[in-house]
Amino acid sequence: MKQREDNTVISIRSLSKSYAGPEGKTIIHALSGCSLDIAEGSFTVFAGKSGCGKTTLLKLIAGLEQPDSGAVEFSTGQDGATVPKLGFMFQDLRLLPWLSVEQNLALAFPPPKGKAEKAAVRNEITRVLALTGLAGRAASLPRELSGGMAQRAALARCLCRNPAILLLDEPLSSLDAVTRLHLRNELEKLRQRPGLTVILVTHDIEEAVFFGDRIFLMNEGKPDAEVPIPLKRPRNYRSAEFQEYCRKIEDTLILQAAPTVQ
Ligand SMILES: Nc1ncnc2c1ncn2[C@@H]1O[C@H](COP(=O)(O)OP(=O)(O)OP(=O)(O)O)[C@@H](O)[C@H]1O
Ligand SMILES: [Mg+2]
Repeated sequence: MKQREDNTVISIRSLSKSYAGPEGKTIIHALSGCSLDIAEGSFTVFAGKSGCGKTTLLKLIAGLEQPDSGAVEFSTGQDGATVPKLGFMFQDLRLLPWLSVEQNLALAFPPPKGKAEKAAVRNEITRVLALTGLAGRAASLPRELSGGMAQRAALARCLCRNPAILLLDEPLSSLDAVTRLHLRNELEKLRQRPGLTVILVTHDIEEAVFFGDRIFLMNEGKPDAEVPIPLKRPRNYRSAEFQEYCRKIEDTLILQAAPTVQ
């Protein structure tokens, strides 16, 4: 951790990560020399074909996996003391099946001491459940939820404790159209919270253009193209310039997917 000189909050330096392939016979290079800086308060989107290293990158940022080489550095404010609080919404949700929604959320907090702390945790859980439209499902077990509800419960858990950095791995992928729109709007409100830094992984091009200050298109373990989106907010899906950015990203993704001629 180092003191901030500019507004970079996460510095990703030449990150590489490999895994052993099936039966240990091959090596999978999930990330290969990935480098970029992420500014405090920015919304950064990563897109790219399946297997190009997006989830691996989020896990390395969160410290859940260690890189083979390279580093992730966090910068702090003037006091230099606070470690940024991270909220991670996993692609596979990771709700504990034997705990209710409320109990799953409670795990995001350090064990509360005394009545006042317990009440504060309860209030915070009530707040994020309301925010994600799950107010009536606090007592439900994950298996009693629909796919979309489980996804919202996972989002609710990562919003607990007001994280400074949100890592969202395809957070809206299995929602019905109306809920998706509702949560997009909630995410848009969250985005406006001063200083909140969001990193979103998505396969949905409109979602990427709606949210991203910058979109990185990953290919073979590193960002292959960067598309800044200077459109005014809130963004209008139907505007010609919005659709123009969508087309540009789609074209780049198609080019990336095309087989290279040797
Ligand atoms: N724990 C692991 N063990 C072995 N291989 C892994 C592991 N985690 C990831 N991989 C491999 O690393 C590569 C990158 O995986 P990653 O999950 O980062 O892709 P992704 O871009 O998130 O894909 P998707 O869009 O399908 O979620 C893939 O080939 C994957 O099989
Ligand atoms: Mg993934």
